[in-house]
Amino acid sequence: MSNKSLIAVWGSPNSGKTVTTVKLAQAFAAQKQNVLVLCCDALCPSVSTIAPQGAAKHHSLGELLSLASLTQEDLLRYALPLDVSPHIAFLGYKKGDNTFTYASYNRERAVDLLTLARHLADVVLVDCSSFLSVDLLSTVALELADHVIRLHSCDLKSLMFYASYLPLVTDARFRRASTLSVMSNVKLGQGSREYSQVFGGIQVMLPHVPDLEQQAANARLLEDCSGKEATAYSKALKLILEQCHHGEHPVSASSERKISSHSFPRIAHLLQQLWPKHRGDKQ
Ligand SMILES: Nc1ncnc2c1ncn2[C@@H]1O[C@H](COP(=O)(O)OP(=O)(O)O)[C@@H](O)[C@H]1O
Ligand SMILES: [Mg+2]
Repeated sequence: MSNKSLIAVWGSPNSGKTVTTVKLAQAFAAQKQNVLVLCCDALCPSVSTIAPQGAAKHHSLGELLSLASLTQEDLLRYALPLDVSPHIAFLGYKKGDNTFTYASYNRERAVDLLTLARHLADVVLVDCSSFLSVDLLSTVALELADHVIRLHSCDLKSLMFYASYLPLVTDARFRRASTLSVMSNVKLGQGSREYSQVFGGIQVMLPHVPDLEQQAANARLLEDCSGKEATAYSKALKLILEQCHHGEHPVSASSERKISSHSFPRIAHLLQQLWPKHRGDKQ
């Protein structure tokens, strides 16, 4: 990995994009890399839940994107540094923001912001919105990224999300990044093997960590995790970091293939129940 990496974290709603982005930021910071985290999700602004201490002095990413012009100084002025980690700074929407709060911006502005960010930090981590159709910055981040981490979860919602939204990122302009498919927040007994097979191409499993769930619930994500699950989680994070460091292009044909309804009977059966003909809809 070059010292200037742009990593986009994308996936189904509630799959753990924000949690994983924060934990990756901490892992990179532990290697003394300067990390700028862009929290693009204007649907649920997250910075004040990640770093509540900084919420008062926090400027909005929406405001930054709608400035008349954009410079590195602007990025530095708007970024929220962390007291707990001098290597991490955040840019994101503020509590109370919504998609109508600021003037709209164009693709060129999104490219400018990501290019400036890449020059400022060793690693730029973009916590993308699931909904590319409403978030231009997330879409452009997926286009320009060196690495895309795709998060899946072991549930039908995630399957349905990918069936609908994966086609949006199959265009050639999204293919410059290496893509790493990750199963996130995996609990025992959730059928992770079956889901992995149905999604196809899953390379890393991030386990469910009860302590992490508590951290997310109590706005303490920047603290360290403990417990045996946390050890397994750190190992899985390490694998993700290694993939990013090696700059490999681990996209296999299988990760791009259509969701299969043949491989695993239980999920296949559930999926079949959702097909239109089973609901009596017109074909
Ligand atoms: N590895 C994990 N272990 C435990 N809980 C997790 C894990 N990853 C995600 N979660 C839980 O899932 C919830 C949603 O995660 P979040 O990162 O906010 O999703 P997203 O950003 O994709 O919408 C978190 O609040 C947390 O409770
Ligand atoms: Mg999120």
